[in-house]
Amino acid sequence: TPVTSTLRSVASFPVGAAINPSLLTGKPLYRQTLETEFSSITSENHLKMRQVHPEKDRYDWSGGNTIVDFANQTGKRMHGHALVWHQSVPDWVTQFKGDSLAWENLLRDHITTVVKQYKGKIASWDVVNEAFLDDGTLRPTLWLQNLGPGYMARSFQYARQADPAVKLFYNEYGQEYSAKKLAAVLAMVADFRKRNIPIDGVGLQMHTNIDHPDAQIENAIRQTAATGLLVHISELDVRVNQAKTANFSPTDALWQRQKAKYQAIATAYRTIVPPAQQHGITTWNVSDADSWIPSFCQCNDFPLPFDKDFKKKAAYDGFLTGL
Ligand code: XIL
Repeated sequence: TPVTSTLRSVASFPVGAAINPSLLTGKPLYRQTLETEFSSITSENHLKMRQVHPEKDRYDWSGGNTIVDFANQTGKRMHGHALVWHQSVPDWVTQFKGDSLAWENLLRDHITTVVKQYKGKIASWDVVNEAFLDDGTLRPTLWLQNLGPGYMARSFQYARQADPAVKLFYNEYGQEYSAKKLAAVLAMVADFRKRNIPIDGVGLQMHTNIDHPDAQIENAIRQTAATGLLVHISELDVRVNQAKTANFSPTDALWQRQKAKYQAIATAYRTIVPPAQQHGITTWNVSDADSWIPSFCQCNDFPLPFDKDFKKKAAYDGFLTGL
């Protein structure tokens, strides 16, 4: 029988997908595609604070365990997402009243408990997610407001104390379209290194589209790689329906442009990032049916390499060729 190439078999670095526990248990083709094609798993939602820490003194590991156990049992690298974010914050935190010490304890307890729970089972964590605005200033989140700008560095320190071996990432979107945001992330990395704050890698989310210039994507990858840290394309998807047209149905020409974009991004990553810094490329979801984009943009779109029936699209072929 002929040997078929898969994403994970052709790539010299991990190829991942963000996943959801209900699909893992309820949809055989989803699970099969993950097992066959991917070598890394990211938790799409179930290790976020609202899901994992619904009440002050209660953690819910059920969704996280389903994902982490699947990754561990199928020999895939597990990437945890995300310890500190301004979205997916539980009500008890948005309503929390306390002085700066109480807020500090809240942050430290959360990070410490979650990282320790999965010590040895999760290889890398997004410690802080989306802390900058597109203009390069700090996003005015409840973390910034209650803890001050030092919350970012301290989050990384708490994560390192909880698991000395786990790789710690700062994760962000838009470095490919905002030069100011890219510069702000790089300045944060430089500052951390100067002050000996632990950080192992930077995630470029890369929620992008068929029109985005390759040169800007290459620039973000190149400048991030120049830090010497691990580089993760952490949430890749490529939108086709730019005008958010209702009942949109892509023409073959558009599928070909999506294919070209996947190929260009994978090629840029493979050729620009030195092998020792390649943490891998992760797509945000698996198929067009489970993509978060339609609910996010309130439009129909088809941003992933697999179609709703888990058939390989032209985008898959482009991705595979670029890897
Ligand atoms: C998204 C999930 O995909 C959705 O299911 C959820 O409703 C909202 O969050 N950047 C991130 C991810 O870092 O956590 C987001 O995930 C997508 C944008």
